[in-house]
Amino acid sequence: MHSIAIEGNPAPYSCTDHDTVLRAGLRAGLGFPYECNVGSCGNCKFELLEGEVDNLWPESPGLSDKDRLKNRWLGCQSRAKTDLRIKLRTSEHYRAIHTPLITRAVLKRHTMLTHDISEFVFECETPIAFSSGQYALIQLPGVKGPRAYSMSNVGGKATGLEFQVRRIPEGLGSDVLFGLAVGDSVQIDGPYGMAYLREDAERDILLVGGGSGLAPMLSLARGALMSEKLQSQQIHFLYGARQLRDLCGEDLLKDAQHQANPTQGAQRVHYTSVLSNHPPGEELPAGCQTGFVHEVLEAKHADQLASFEIYFAGPPLMAQAMIKLLVARKVPMTQVHFDQFY
Ligand SMILES: Cc1cc2nc3c(=O)[nH]c(=O)nc-3n(C[C@H](O)[C@H](O)[C@H](O)COP(=O)(O)OP(=O)(O)OC[C@H]3O[C@@H](n4cnc5c(N)ncnc54)[C@H](O)[C@@H]3O)c2cc1C
Ligand code: FES
Repeated sequence: MHSIAIEGNPAPYSCTDHDTVLRAGLRAGLGFPYECNVGSCGNCKFELLEGEVDNLWPESPGLSDKDRLKNRWLGCQSRAKTDLRIKLRTSEHYRAIHTPLITRAVLKRHTMLTHDISEFVFECETPIAFSSGQYALIQLPGVKGPRAYSMSNVGGKATGLEFQVRRIPEGLGSDVLFGLAVGDSVQIDGPYGMAYLREDAERDILLVGGGSGLAPMLSLARGALMSEKLQSQQIHFLYGARQLRDLCGEDLLKDAQHQANPTQGAQRVHYTSVLSNHPPGEELPAGCQTGFVHEVLEAKHADQLASFEIYFAGPPLMAQAMIKLLVARKVPMTQVHFDQFY
C-alpha cells in the first residue's frame, strides 16, 4: 500500500499494489480527470514530483514523447512503486457518483445479436451500483490491460451486468471475450464514466449510438423509461451502422418500452436507424435512412438540438463529427454527455 499526495490537496490517498494511480484516486472520492481508462485519451495525465511508478503500457497512445520528457504519466496506466507526490488539477465533474469496486464475475449467457455483435451477461460475486450509461473494465484472462465495455442494462445495484460487444478483427480482448465459455470467470472493475442519465434534466432526451455504441444508449433509454422523474420526456434514439446486417437494438428498445409501461399507448421512444454503407437502389426497411448518423440527426432535428439533453457513444470519428455539429448549433456543452470508444 502506498500513499499518494496531490500537490495542493490536504489529504493524501492510499493505493494498493494492484491498483492504478487514477482508479485508487476515484475510489478515494477524488475528482481525478479521466475518460477512457485504457490509455488512449490522455485525460488522466499527471506530473510526477516525487517517487517512482510502474508504467503498465509504456507505448500507450495517450502519452506523447513531450509528455514523457516532462515526467508526465497516465493515471490509468501507472502503478505506485513508492509513496508519491503528484501534480494535476482535480475537478468535481470527475468525482465518482458510485464508488468503483473490483469483483470476480462469471459468464452466464452469450447471445449473438448480429454477425459481429454479441450480448454477454455476467453474474458478479459482489453487486455493483451504477447509473444507466456508465461502463466497467473487464480484465480478460491472458490479455494485457483491461477493456472498457458499457453496461446495456438499466442502472441500479446489480449482480447481473449486460454488455454488447463488437468482435474486432484481430482485437486481442474481444477475441478472448468471444471465446469464453459459460461458467468462465473474469474480473470486473466499475462503474466508470460521466455519460450517465441525468434524471433532474427536464429536456427531451436525444440518444445517438454508432456501431458498438448501442449498449450505453440502450441502458440510458431503459433508465429513462423506468425513471419516475422522466415520464413526460420523449426519447429520440438514432443508431448508426454500416449495413442492414449490422443493425440491432430496435426490438430490445420495444421490449424496454413494454416492460416500463405495458399499457402505454403512445410510444415515447422514436427510433431511427442510419446506414452509412447501404448499396444504392436496395430497399430500406421503414424508419431506416442512409448517410452518417450525425448528418441524419442534423437533417431531422437541426433547430431543436439545443432543446435536448444529449447523450452519444461510438468511435472517435463519429464523436468528433457530433461535437462539431453540436458546437456549430450552439448547444450548451453542459447538456451533452458522451463516451468515445477507443
Ligand atoms: C469508455 C469506453 C466504452 C466502451 N464500450 C464498448 C462497448 O460497450 N462495446 C464494445 O464493443 N466496445 C466498447 N468499447 C471499445 C472496447 O473497449 C475495445 O476497445 C474494443 O472491444 C477493442 O478491443 P480489442 O481488445 O478487441 O482490440 P485491441 O485492438 O487489441 O485493443 C484495443 C483496446 O485495448 C486497449 N489496449 C490495447 N493494448 C493494451 C495494453 N497493453 N494495456 C492496456 N490497454 C491496452 C486500447 O486502449 C484499446 O482500448 C469501449 C471503449 C471505451 C473507451
Ligand atoms: S483515462 Fe487514461 S488515457 Fe484515457
